[in-house]
Amino acid sequence: MKIDELNLPEGLDPKHIPAHVAIIMDGNGRWARQRLMNRSIGHSEGVNSVNRITRFASDLGVRDLTLYAFSTENWNRPADEVDTLMNLIGETILREAPELRENNVHIRLFGDIDRLPESVRRNLFEGRDLCQSCNGLNLNLCLSYSSRWEITRAVRLIARDVREGRLDPDDIDESVIESRLVTAGIPDPDLLIRTGGEQRISNFLLWQIAYSELYFSPVLWPDFDEKAFADALIQYQNRERRFGMTSEQILSLQK
Ligand code: IPE
Ligand code: IPE
Ligand code: MG
Repeated sequence: MKIDELNLPEGLDPKHIPAHVAIIMDGNGRWARQRLMNRSIGHSEGVNSVNRITRFASDLGVRDLTLYAFSTENWNRPADEVDTLMNLIGETILREAPELRENNVHIRLFGDIDRLPESVRRNLFEGRDLCQSCNGLNLNLCLSYSSRWEITRAVRLIARDVREGRLDPDDIDESVIESRLVTAGIPDPDLLIRTGGEQRISNFLLWQIAYSELYFSPVLWPDFDEKAFADALIQYQNRERRFGMTSEQILSLQK
């Protein structure tokens, strides 16, 4: 859909959409518990929100949507919940990939993907490959991901390059570190949203969110809809990002 065909919520400026939005999709379990249902129902409802928000973000012209779907720490959940989540992830990607492709959505997988069950991995690669030539929204799915895992991996890659004489330790700067992260080459998130009411980062993109705007929504992920997403964007649009400078400097840069 074109942005001018969208029924845009009042107050949202279509010319000032953040290029990169990252989301900690939290609250599925509580959504289910409130309805006296099994947590797994909350997770499958959560998939509907993923579809809804992906479509909306793509229509709005967001370049990168980075979704925290399963953390390194989530492996510590009860085995049956982990199984449910893995099956859901594997099924969803295959089911949704054709429509994602129609919407020109490009898929990237971030995290320790080798840790996922083989069958899930296969589905993920198949879904990703189907959308390989798409150049619209980049949908970055974080699976078995944590920021400390990512930074530890980056240090290991750098240490190997030093050992093998490809890199001089004196040449290690921020760009060298950035280039070894799973998000290498992708601009940092402009906006980080966490749904579900908790105000914490839970090991997500610690390096990349150094200057992101943070937005915490009380809405549980399965209830997170276009209106809730637009509310976050409107808040974002009303903030002044100063990057350590003064307000006057920022205003003169905008002229
Ligand atoms: C987020 O919802 C989904 C994952 C972490 C995989 P939760 O399952 O954490 O839901 P709550 O926080 O228990 O409500
Ligand atoms: C964060 O949610 C991870 C994901 C949304 C994938 P959690 O529910 O795992 O976070 P904590 O444990 O409440 O910090
Ligand atoms: Mg949670």
